Amino acid sequence: MKVTVIGAGNVGATCADVIARKDFVHELVLLDIKQGIAEGKALDIWQTSPINIFNTRVKGVTNDYQATSNSDVVVITSGLPRKPGMSRDDLIATNAGIVKSVTERVIQHSPDTIIIVVSNPLDVMTYCAYLTSKLPPNKVFGMAGILDTARYKAFLAEALDCSPKDIQAVIMGGHGDTMVPLPRYTTVSGIPVTDLLAKEKLDSIIDRTKKGGGELVNLMGTSAWYAPGAAAAQMVEAVIKDEMRIYPCCAWLQGEYGLNEIYLGVPVKLGRNGIEQIITLQLNADEMTLLNASATAVKEVMAVLDGMQKVA
Ligand code: NAI
Ligand code: 2OP
Repeated sequence: MKVTVIGAGNVGATCADVIARKDFVHELVLLDIKQGIAEGKALDIWQTSPINIFNTRVKGVTNDYQATSNSDVVVITSGLPRKPGMSRDDLIATNAGIVKSVTERVIQHSPDTIIIVVSNPLDVMTYCAYLTSKLPPNKVFGMAGILDTARYKAFLAEALDCSPKDIQAVIMGGHGDTMVPLPRYTTVSGIPVTDLLAKEKLDSIIDRTKKGGGELVNLMGTSAWYAPGAAAAQMVEAVIKDEMRIYPCCAWLQGEYGLNEIYLGVPVKLGRNGIEQIITLQLNADEMTLLNASATAVKEVMAVLDGMQKVA
């Protein structure tokens, strides 16, 4: 099995490091446009193999797509990260150009691959990769829900002084301030979270989760990478190992939740074919209102991309 990670910056290199350590692929290629950066980081990761005990062969290349040929999965992380004061949507013009050109070259060398997009604005960059690759929608999806849900779970574990391992939760919607955490679907070892936490505390955790990316941008001057890189690696693992795990991912909706022709975060089953199934939850009226509002916000940015495609 072969995996390529495009972009050897903070998220891409972390994703490659996590994949390599987990030892579930034979060949891992890290590609960047900046001369030497992917080669250097790949070599550094490979030199952890005797310490972390793995066999994954990690190779770094500068813009050499031939080296990515016949990848089973390609993760796209290339693009600008957010800086303080920027929203994810502010990145659209630059990152759309990058994601489009990268996807074209990926597809030339791996026409049947599965693409996992990480670049922001996430839902719309996933749409961009879908339009460009012309792959079926089960093979093009985005990483955001696992990260957003991980932040929510981490905050809950802190508040409850319990293990994050015991928390089950799902966040739907776009990767932005309109994301939709679902307390009704949040449990701690089967116990509804609403039985364990006061409403005000839960509401403040939900609010912090929605602003979780911005909190880190303000602290570090750039966006996060450890949790994003690990989240993308977890999706790659589910596909490569045909795990049939259920995760919230950014998927192309064609009627599910009453939404059409939109990339949005929903629970899906991930296996060897990518998205094996979109899970349809029975949302109540309030939850549906929030999901529709999130879909409207994502559609607005998708329309900006559609406008750019017409000009190009
Ligand atoms: P970074 O700046 O550390 O790395 C980006 C890398 O992409 C750089 O090494 C750059 O040289 C490379 N690159 C740029 N254009 C390229 C091209 N045409 N071909 C190949 N490589 C190219 O940024 P970081 O922190 O790794 O973030 C990457 C992207 O992921 C950003 O758009 C960021 O907003 C997004 N992100 C998304 C998250 C999510 O939940 N979906 C979470 C965190 C970051
Ligand atoms: C994050 O949520 C900025 O999308 C990035 O950390």
